[in-house]
Amino acid sequence: MTPTAAQPSSPLPIMKTVGDLRAQVAAWRRDGLTVALVPTMGALHDGHLGLVRRARDLADRVVATIFVNPTQFAPHEDFDRYPRDEAGDATKLAGAGCHALYAPDVRAMYPQGFATAISVGGPAEGLCGTFRPQMFGGVALVVTKLFLQALPDVAVFGEKDYQQLMVIRRFTRDLDIPVRVEGLPTVREADGLAMSSRNAYLSADERSRAPELYRALTAAAEALARGGEADGALTAIRSRIAEAGFGSIDYVELRDAETLEPVTAALRPARLLAAAWMGKARLIDNVGVPPSL
Ligand code: PAF
Repeated sequence: MTPTAAQPSSPLPIMKTVGDLRAQVAAWRRDGLTVALVPTMGALHDGHLGLVRRARDLADRVVATIFVNPTQFAPHEDFDRYPRDEAGDATKLAGAGCHALYAPDVRAMYPQGFATAISVGGPAEGLCGTFRPQMFGGVALVVTKLFLQALPDVAVFGEKDYQQLMVIRRFTRDLDIPVRVEGLPTVREADGLAMSSRNAYLSADERSRAPELYRALTAAAEALARGGEADGALTAIRSRIAEAGFGSIDYVELRDAETLEPVTAALRPARLLAAAWMGKARLIDNVGVPPSL
């Protein structure tokens, strides 16, 4: 595996083992090149490709990873039906200027006898941490492994998974992992719906209603920035998305933008975050709220 040409090659070199990944990164290091990592679970859309393009601005070489990580799914969740298309993803990555793909299989990441877990608190508490209690420990485990396997200079994640981004920032800092964690603003469809691999679960009718989540969050963020009261803003979001056809609402909350501690007013930069079900799709979204006067 020697994808060392200055320009991204096509088809994209695909590495399956940590040995191949490390050999590639070491070769780049010998040439004095910097390396960015873009961890994904595949089923790539323009949001992911935006991460790759941002990574290209930040480093000389970009490695994307595709690994549908079993430890972040509970047994009743969508691990088995999570969309997978490695060949299509590789073509998209090559088109976005990615230099190599690391796509290990489950046994390579979690060999027989694997017995280690990572426990995360702080920004992992509440929100998705309540409704998907397995998730952030699993994310911390796999992202820590990917960081230690690739040892990149920088890694890029989307703000669409805002709580995940804050959790990754926190454990990277807490564990002194020498990787800079960069966030990229959410990439949206023309009607505002946040791009997500799980949008594939939406029927045409559900898809037409789904952007109301973003519209409700944006309207509430504007009201809060004008000095509006938090309870009213959260209630307005709930009724607006329920009216749009969202079924169960997991949460709608206002949190401190950095620590993710609950706040009752946007006196410092804050974040409105929501998760709700449209049919079989659990959609999450969030928007920033500037401090009100
Ligand atoms: O956001 C994702 O796609 C995943 O949670 C991640 C960060 C790749 C870890 O599996």
